[in-house]
Amino acid sequence: MIRTFRILVIDDDPGIRDTYREILSDTKSDELLDKGAALFEAKTHRQIQSDQHHYDVILEERGDKGIEIIETSLKEDQPISLIFIDMSIPGKNGAETARLIWEIDEDIKIVFVTAFSEYTPDEITDIVGREDIFYLRKPFNPDEIRQFARALTKEWFLEREKRSLTKDLQRANRELEELNNSLNERVEKQTALLIQSEKMASLGILTSGIAHKLNTPVSTIKENLSKLDQSSGLIKQFVNRSDARRENGSARNNFLSAVGNLDGLIRNSAEEIIKIEKTITNLKAISKSDDTTYRQTDIHEIIDTTLNVIHNDIKQELRIEKEYSDLPEIWCYPQKLSQAILNILVNSVQAAPPDGVISIKTELDIRGKRASDQLIRLTFRDNGSGIAEQDILKLFDPFFTTKPIGEGTGLGLSITYDIVKLHHGDITINSKPGEGTTVTITIPSIP
Ligand SMILES: Nc1ncnc2c1ncn2[C@@H]1O[C@H](COP(=O)(O)OP(=O)(O)OP(=O)(O)O)[C@@H](O)[C@H]1O
Ligand SMILES: [Mg+2]
Repeated sequence: MIRTFRILVIDDDPGIRDTYREILSDTKSDELLDKGAALFEAKTHRQIQSDQHHYDVILEERGDKGIEIIETSLKEDQPISLIFIDMSIPGKNGAETARLIWEIDEDIKIVFVTAFSEYTPDEITDIVGREDIFYLRKPFNPDEIRQFARALTKEWFLEREKRSLTKDLQRANRELEELNNSLNERVEKQTALLIQSEKMASLGILTSGIAHKLNTPVSTIKENLSKLDQSSGLIKQFVNRSDARRENGSARNNFLSAVGNLDGLIRNSAEEIIKIEKTITNLKAISKSDDTTYRQTDIHEIIDTTLNVIHNDIKQELRIEKEYSDLPEIWCYPQKLSQAILNILVNSVQAAPPDGVISIKTELDIRGKRASDQLIRLTFRDNGSGIAEQDILKLFDPFFTTKPIGEGTGLGLSITYDIVKLHHGDITINSKPGEGTTVTITIPSIP
């Protein structure tokens, strides 16, 4: 491969400039090439012979002209790789010119050429502020010039290659890192979802077991109660007719009041039994956690079932205010939506003060004429502790929690987010620390 290197010569002596041109247009001295090769650790020049050199030599008389050439060469992306500069030139001397040149292009190799009586290498280093200077005494030997040209242009080239390779490597590294991060994130999310669905599944098995076990005793008690009701009627009839009425004293009074209480006790028990039955129905609904059916459902039904689930947890004084609008049924995964709402409500219950208020509002938002433009908006508001501003952006991150270890897994909202997205919806959270939090979900009624 033939490479052309650009070399700049700055010397005010026209004769010397011509000599440079002659020397640098002839590159055949084997012995010297070997020496040059040794400088960059090749065994002989033959190992690098495949890299043929051509020098494009630019001759200049003054330092300021030289600086101009460096500037344009950079602009045109035709960088100069090497400069031979005479120390004694008109205007600024060689070293000062070099310092300015290196400010423009720090990669250029510079060889300082000086007569014996002039500068020492240390003096030049002091002026240019760099150690990597090359130094040549006048009168020079043409072979020395060739050797410098060959070795330094090669080094210049290798340094550039190295830099561009390093840059590529860094870019590749960065890309790899990003990929790795996004993979990690996905694995974390999937794991979180798995854990959650595992949790829901075992909760489901547990609750359906309980519901099933409660069924039989409850129906037995119900039957017994109705029999008891009949019996109590008979007892009363009997007592009213019997001699007991004619008896005097406390024994009679106690007996009559006990019989009178029977009615109330039986009614009350029957009412309680109905509550238990309702709970069982709810447990059954929730326990179908593997129920992934997609169907048209009344969103209010979902909210109410979900509310029933947390009802036991709700602090005694906590108030739930509902403001439901007339809504069409929506196409959804009811079980999943219930889970999403549950996660929001549990957060609110946890954040609200004991006598707090949680309000739930449903609205229809019609954006256009088509049925698919209909959005259902659900707003959950609490007057709880609120969320610190710096946390708002992290709420949907899996495992983000401000709760003590063991209390929150930080999965609630991340799962809610995924479920809302599954329904092609949106979720936003607004909060003011100390005032409360509002979670808004919008879901198209027809996806
Ligand atoms: N209504 C709210 N009021 C105040 N802070 C909230 C509310 N909802 C969420 N947060 C904050 O957001 C964090 C993340 O909520 P998320 O439901 O994802 O996890 P968690 O409740 O901490 O744990 P998990 O739901 O898994 O038990 C909570 O730790 C809490 O700091
Ligand atoms: Mg939560």
